[in-house]
Amino acid sequence: MLSIGAQARAARAFVDAHLLATGAPVDDDLRARLDRYLPVLLPLFAELYGARDDCLDHLAALVELTARSWADRAPDLKAIDVARETDPEWYLSNRMLGGVCYVDRYAGDLEGVRARIPYFRELGLTYLHLMPLFEAPEGGSDGGYAVSSYRRVNPALGDMDQLRGLAADLRTAGISLVVDFIFNHTSDEHEWARRAAAQDPEYEGYYWIFPDRTMPDLFERTTREIFPDDHPGSFVQLPDGRWIWSTFHSFQWDLNYSNPAVFQAMAGEMLFLANVGVDVLRMDAVAFIWKQVGTPCESLPQAHTLLKAFNAVCRIAAPSLLFKSEAIVHPDEVVEYIGRDECQLSYNPLQMALTWEALATRDARLLSQALERRHAIPAGCAWVNYVRSHDDIGWTFADEDAAELGIDAAGHRRFLNAFYVGRFPGSFARGVPFQENPRTGDARVSGTTASLAGLEAGEPGAAQRILLAHGIALTTGGIPLLYLGDEVGQLNDLGYLDDPDLAGDSRWVHRPPYPADRYAHRTDPDSDAGTIYRGMRRMIGIRRDLPELAGGVLVGFATHNPAVLGYQRPGRDGTLLVLANVSDGPQTVAAEVFAAQPASATDLLTESDVALWTDVELGPLEFLWLEV
Ligand code: GLC
Ligand code: GLC
Repeated sequence: MLSIGAQARAARAFVDAHLLATGAPVDDDLRARLDRYLPVLLPLFAELYGARDDCLDHLAALVELTARSWADRAPDLKAIDVARETDPEWYLSNRMLGGVCYVDRYAGDLEGVRARIPYFRELGLTYLHLMPLFEAPEGGSDGGYAVSSYRRVNPALGDMDQLRGLAADLRTAGISLVVDFIFNHTSDEHEWARRAAAQDPEYEGYYWIFPDRTMPDLFERTTREIFPDDHPGSFVQLPDGRWIWSTFHSFQWDLNYSNPAVFQAMAGEMLFLANVGVDVLRMDAVAFIWKQVGTPCESLPQAHTLLKAFNAVCRIAAPSLLFKSEAIVHPDEVVEYIGRDECQLSYNPLQMALTWEALATRDARLLSQALERRHAIPAGCAWVNYVRSHDDIGWTFADEDAAELGIDAAGHRRFLNAFYVGRFPGSFARGVPFQENPRTGDARVSGTTASLAGLEAGEPGAAQRILLAHGIALTTGGIPLLYLGDEVGQLNDLGYLDDPDLAGDSRWVHRPPYPADRYAHRTDPDSDAGTIYRGMRRMIGIRRDLPELAGGVLVGFATHNPAVLGYQRPGRDGTLLVLANVSDGPQTVAAEVFAAQPASATDLLTESDVALWTDVELGPLEFLWLEV
């Protein structure tokens, strides 16, 4: 039995011999990275595949891949690698601001996106997430989340050279490009999928295919249904009678990462995208990537090992690439994906959902509890804070957190669903149910920010509510992410109901085409669009100049008024104290609460002084950014 060190040395010797034999290019830079990160990659890879005889061969081939990919990496990207190595926390800056859009809906095609760069600069974006833009099946493709080729751009949007050019232009404009890495599944039209369907043994091993229901039944005892409107359970049947794993739609086939060939193939796709000039990969559906009988097949330990192994591959061959985790799961699980060696960025679905929860209940206690208890993440990592995404809103708070406040989680979720789909008397929201599951009682909510916040219903406070929700996302740290079009108050769009490929998926209600009319009115102070846009610009502008808003350190602030959220963002030279009234009535925060504060502070939003030696009054949905 060899010691671990001796094993690692033997593995290293094997890898070196392989590199030499294949003539893979290895320069000094790569050599240094291999010295540093091969010892990281090796045990991760061994944990996943060590039990197989061909483990070392796969590892050697993987390292060869990194060498070839590094040799292909363009000099300007290598320059970014160096720049970011000297400023490794660049993404923690208070100047970071994200936007997300569909290429076709927002701008027609990639050229259209390029033409909107001046607007992105006007808004202050430094991060642009373009939703899936790769080749995908015509018709149903889950908005591109069913990828048929990771190396070909959807021809309706442009081609790979245009994407490369766009990445470069964005970089010149100070904007990082973010694209999805949809690595849990491919579309059923991907070359690998076609071959698997045709019973090619090599590619059958890329997916989870079973001849009959025995294994699917076993797995489904413990898995949860994600898209029950599409199909029950986790499997769908192929025309030849076999069963294939499809967590999401029946045309999205889950990849089998217990096969090292899949890891290697996807590492190749990942490095290809990195070399196109992508700065951040949004790691789609991370929770689902490892399956094991008798478990929920979500957030298994190997899912983390796998992500860490991918991350180590990047550190070798595309060092400046970052991962953003998309884990829309229990908050305890969401944080497990966050780490410098795993995903440096992560969506913050809890804060997103609880912002809406607070607005519905006019009670900020759950949100406040989450900020105090669940906001801290490892140093050098950042939340991506958002008001809503292209997906539905699910009430992913922890039942036990709610119970502490005397809230019954199941009943509360039912209330929130009813409230946001407008089934609750007096609700300001005009959302639409998503994936209502009559068997389990589960449901989620679709809707644009403006429609959910009351603008569609003509609620007087709606614009202010939209600004309040964004104000929270802009001040709680990390990277705030705007769904483009929401900054001018775009409304729900029922047009999707006329398209048979989309009609079954209510998330399309909140993915409207570019709201040209609203953008045209964005400087008109008498319009809703203008009111919202002006407020957004003001907040964004202040944030850019406020070092307290860099990073993610946040300290709770008890307002002793459940309708008023409070938190502090300490900086080197001062502290920002945020107060936000989530109710539609006036609220008071008692003077005693400010005992430790100076006698007065400046509200940065209105540039007026607020006395803190006495009670502070907040108007309906009013929020203050107090420099103390
Ligand atoms: C992610 C995407 C979602 C998609 C799913 C399957 O959750 O955000 O839109 O349906 O993955 O790829
Ligand atoms: C996608 C779906 C969302 C689901 C999630 C699970 O984001 O849109 O509804 O809860 O996947 O990760």
